[in-house]
Amino acid sequence: MRVVSGIQPTGNLHLGNYLGAIRRWVKMQHEAQGRDNFLIFLADLHAITVYKDPAELRANVNGMAAALIACGIDPARTVLFNHARVPAHPEMAWILGCTARIGWLNRMTQFKEKSGKDREGVSVGLFAYPVLQAADVLLYQATHVPVGEDQKQHVELMRDIATKFNTDYGVDLFTIPEPHIGESAARIMSLRDGTAKMSKSDPSDMSRINLSDDDDLIAQKIRKAKTDADPLPDQFEALAARPEARNLVSIYAALTDRTPQSVVEEFAGKGFGAFKPALAELMIETLAPIRSRLEQFAADPGMLEKYLVDGSQRAAELASPTLEGAYRALGLPR
Ligand code: TYM
Repeated sequence: MRVVSGIQPTGNLHLGNYLGAIRRWVKMQHEAQGRDNFLIFLADLHAITVYKDPAELRANVNGMAAALIACGIDPARTVLFNHARVPAHPEMAWILGCTARIGWLNRMTQFKEKSGKDREGVSVGLFAYPVLQAADVLLYQATHVPVGEDQKQHVELMRDIATKFNTDYGVDLFTIPEPHIGESAARIMSLRDGTAKMSKSDPSDMSRINLSDDDDLIAQKIRKAKTDADPLPDQFEALAARPEARNLVSIYAALTDRTPQSVVEEFAGKGFGAFKPALAELMIETLAPIRSRLEQFAADPGMLEKYLVDGSQRAAELASPTLEGAYRALGLPR
C-alpha cells in the first residue's frame, strides 16, 4: 500500500480540507509501512493555473506546510514536499498529456465550474491540470489516494490515463490507483448554502471555518450559519431536504467520530438554539490546539523550508524509476 495525496497551497486551510482529507491523512500516516509509502505534497504548480501574486504564493507554500504539520502530519513519517521542487511532476505531466484525450478533460466538472462562462479566457494549465494531478500520483505507483468527494472524478481520470498508457505501449508501468473517500466528511458544505461545498474560493468568509479563525470568530460563524426553524428529527435521513441542517449534523458527527444517526438521536426534538452552541464548543475544542501549533510553526520558516527540501529530495528519488520507465516505453531512453 502506497498512499499519495496533495493539497493546493492557497492561503488558509478550512474545515472541509481538514475533515475531508487531512485528518484522514494523519490517521493513515500511522498505519503506513514506512515513510516512503506515505507521500503528501503541496500542489504549488497547480496553484498557478490562475494568477497568483508570487510573494503571496511563496508565503502560502510555507504556511500550508506549517498547517499540515500543525494538524499532525509528521515529516519523519511522511514524505512532505512541494511540486515545484520535484521536476519529475511537470515532466511526467507532459508525457501523460499525450495519452489523455481532450474529450476526457472536457468532462471534468471542476474545470466547468472554475472556468464558468469564460472557457476561452482561462489558462491552458487550468484545463490540463488534471493531467498533472495524474502525474502526481502515477509517478509513485500509488495504490490509494485519500481525497474528498470533489476529487473523485480526477482520480477516475488518472486510472483511465494509466490504463491507456499501459495498453498503448504494451507495458505494465503504472499501478492503477484507487480513490479513498471517507464516508462522514466526504463533502463538507458551505455554512451559508448547504448545496455548495465549503471552499477557499467562496467570496464570503462566513461560509467557511478557517483553521486560523479564533474562538470568537468560530462561535460567531456557527451562530450565523444558515439553518431552519424546525427541531432536529430522530432519523438522519429525515434531513434529506434540509441541506444546511444536514451539513451541521455531519460536521458534528465528523468532529466526534460518530455516525450522523447517533448525533440526531442525541439532539432529537431540540432546535438549533441548543445544537449550535454545542457544535461551536466542540469545534473550538478541536481547532484551538491546531491553531496554537500553527502559530508556533509559522514563526520558523527556516525549519519549514528544510522539511520541504528534504521531502522533495526523497520524492525525486522515488519518482525517478517510473519516469525512466515511461521514457523507455516511449522509445526515448536517456
Ligand atoms: P484542494 O486543495 O482543493 O483540497 C484538498 C483536499 O481537501 C478536500 N476538500 C474537501 N473535502 C470535503 N469537503 C470539502 N468542502 C472539501 N474541500 C476540499 C479535497 O477533496 C482534497 O482531498 N486537485 C487537488 C490537489 C491535488 C491532488 C493531487 C489531490 C493535486 N494533485 C493528487 C490528490 C492527488 C485540489 O485542488 O485539492
